Amino acid sequence: MSFRIQPAAPARPNRCQLFGPGSRPAIFQKMAASAADVINLDLEDSVAPDDKAQARQNVTQAIGDVDWGAKFLSVRINGLDTPWWYRDVVDLLENASDRIDQIMIPKVGCAADVYAVDALVSAVEAAMGRTKPIAFEVIIESAAGIAHVEDIAASSPRLQAMSLGAADFAASMGMQTTGIGGTQENYYMAHEGRKHWSDPWHWAQAAIVAACRTHGVLPVDGPFGDFSDDDGFVAQARRSATLGMVGKWAIHPKQVTLANEVFTPSHAQVTEAREILAAMEEAKASGAGATVYKGRLVDIASIKQAEVIVRQSEMIAGH
Ligand code: COA
Ligand code: MG
Repeated sequence: MSFRIQPAAPARPNRCQLFGPGSRPAIFQKMAASAADVINLDLEDSVAPDDKAQARQNVTQAIGDVDWGAKFLSVRINGLDTPWWYRDVVDLLENASDRIDQIMIPKVGCAADVYAVDALVSAVEAAMGRTKPIAFEVIIESAAGIAHVEDIAASSPRLQAMSLGAADFAASMGMQTTGIGGTQENYYMAHEGRKHWSDPWHWAQAAIVAACRTHGVLPVDGPFGDFSDDDGFVAQARRSATLGMVGKWAIHPKQVTLANEVFTPSHAQVTEAREILAAMEEAKASGAGATVYKGRLVDIASIKQAEVIVRQSEMIAGH
């Protein structure tokens, strides 16, 4: 480990973030009743321009009126290149109850974008005497966002989470894709007459995870658009979990259970992690730094890997 200790990310479950358009208040109660850890009420791209003002009003009111239980309650504001974002922030923080936990900032391209929202949020919070500081989540969904991802991860003490937004990201990068996340037909290796599909999102996810882990932020996988394709969703989520992400968005309620399953360490995983820790305890007691567990090497690094799984499981169980 470097002399500089890696900061811990916020210790709250973030296995699934369920989205719903702010212009569709009929589903707010259903969102609140879901099993998602995080609720994202959307004012951005799922809301048509003519509905922006009404959606803002719906969301502001629902924050106080709906019983959100223990959910982490987040609102996605409009991007900084629009005429709507400042009023999203001002209306929310002047009029919504302090049940709101977080503002999600889309299409962040540089740390100064976060700074701008932070300055506005800080001013409104102070003016209104709000004592609960609003957290931030950002979406990396542009070439600039991924190019500046580490600066963005370090941009504000408010920042708790960072998501990859596959569709806008692909468009900004000029990628020849249409699906939102998941396998892309033309991204394959050919070997002995067979196609093997690989993952075009992998490097961006890994870059986000590295930036987040360096700065104590939760890395999250964004949307998977084809909500009829459970296998595709689960495969994408498993890849994200393997890379270190803690959760995934749901853009339809049926994806919530799938995400929760993937991002909750299974009983078998936790049992194995505990057995590895026990094996290493025994090894340490006999003065060894490495030992054999089920025919494979485990050493001091294995303790840290096993601890990630045990800690995640305990944190989720404790909530
Ligand atoms: N949260 C909670 N409940 C939802 C929901 C959501 N996001 N989307 C739909 N439902 C409810 C429906 O009201 C319906 O309830 P009912 O059984 O009581 O009638 C049930 O789930 C089944 O819905 P379904 O008919 O399959 O979907 P739909 O056509 O009503 O809506 C979408 C489909 C994709 C338009 C809708 O899920 C949606 O708006 N998702 C979020 C989009 C979004 O926010 N995007 C921004 C981030 S990428
Ligand atoms: Mg987007």
